[in-house]
Amino acid sequence: MARLLVAGCGYVGSELARRAVLEGHEVFGLRRSEGPLPPGVTRIRADLARPETVPSLPEVDWLLIALGADGRTEAAYRAAYVAAPAVLHAALPAKPQREVVISSAGVFGRDDGGDVFADTRPAPATATGALLLEAEDAALRRGAAVLRLAGIYGPGRVGLLRRVLDGSAWTGRLTSWSNLVHRDDAAALALHLLAHPAPPPVVHGADDDPVPRRVLLEALSELLGCVVPDLPPQIPAPSDGKRVRNRSLHDLGYPLLHPSWRAGYRAVLEQHPELAPSATQEP
Ligand SMILES: NC(=O)c1ccc[n+]([C@@H]2O[C@H](COP(=O)([O-])OP(=O)(O)OC[C@H]3O[C@@H](n4cnc5c(N)ncnc54)[C@H](OP(=O)(O)O)[C@@H]3O)[C@@H](O)[C@H]2O)c1
Repeated sequence: MARLLVAGCGYVGSELARRAVLEGHEVFGLRRSEGPLPPGVTRIRADLARPETVPSLPEVDWLLIALGADGRTEAAYRAAYVAAPAVLHAALPAKPQREVVISSAGVFGRDDGGDVFADTRPAPATATGALLLEAEDAALRRGAAVLRLAGIYGPGRVGLLRRVLDGSAWTGRLTSWSNLVHRDDAAALALHLLAHPAPPPVVHGADDDPVPRRVLLEALSELLGCVVPDLPPQIPAPSDGKRVRNRSLHDLGYPLLHPSWRAGYRAVLEQHPELAPSATQEP
């Protein structure tokens, strides 16, 4: 059994920590706030933006970095993805045997509807994308594996379902690809990588079912029992965004728990009965 430090014990980090405890690992969860941690996780309270708040850290075998930025600004991205991991590593008593760093498919600048694979070199089109790539490159130089996640959904992350219900989701580029991953796959795949004897440098955490945004919104509308707005009947092939390909996770032998968002969102809805059609429709 391993000693594991989860730096950034938030939505994904906490689910990974919960799973690791169940597997019998000794788990430390680092976060800034007094927010909840799963049972059996030893809390480390530290703000990695303020090195003076970082206590002495345990020596661990495995390290997961799942820090989230406080906003979509350059300053927030630099603080969370570039500066904080450096502060963390400076404070660790020894280099962990295995490190996994969560990144985002937002690192890609590609916006022509084409495919991106784990070995596609990103060409960020934004300053925040460039900072993600800087963080990925630093992680790879340390020998860490980078897990690039698609858009995360799951229990408690139902903002898109709420926007479909109130009609506000039907804005923006409906011809863009949506790439999704259930929180449980994001967490279980990260744990799979930590336990892997020789993980590849970069893996894409996305399901098997990239989907045009319009098709996604129509399917979620049907699931929620709400009306689809009147739109031109033809669905053009996506011509913007990118399609995140997940061959790298299949090559690892990782079995997706939710291969498609279609069944994945149905499972989420069962955990959120307040959003189900019977709960939201007028009698
Ligand atoms: N959301 C998406 O759709 C999406 C898509 C692709 C990739 N990702 C990436 O996936 C990763 C995990 O996302 P998530 O949804 O699990 O994020 P999250 O719920 O916001 O959790 C982030 C965690 O980082 C901690 N944290 C942030 N700054 C810190 C600091 N300076 N010192 C110590 N702890 C700090 C937070 O602690 P407190 O809560 O205690 O403040 C929180 O526990 C992020 O890197 C995110 O960019 C997300």
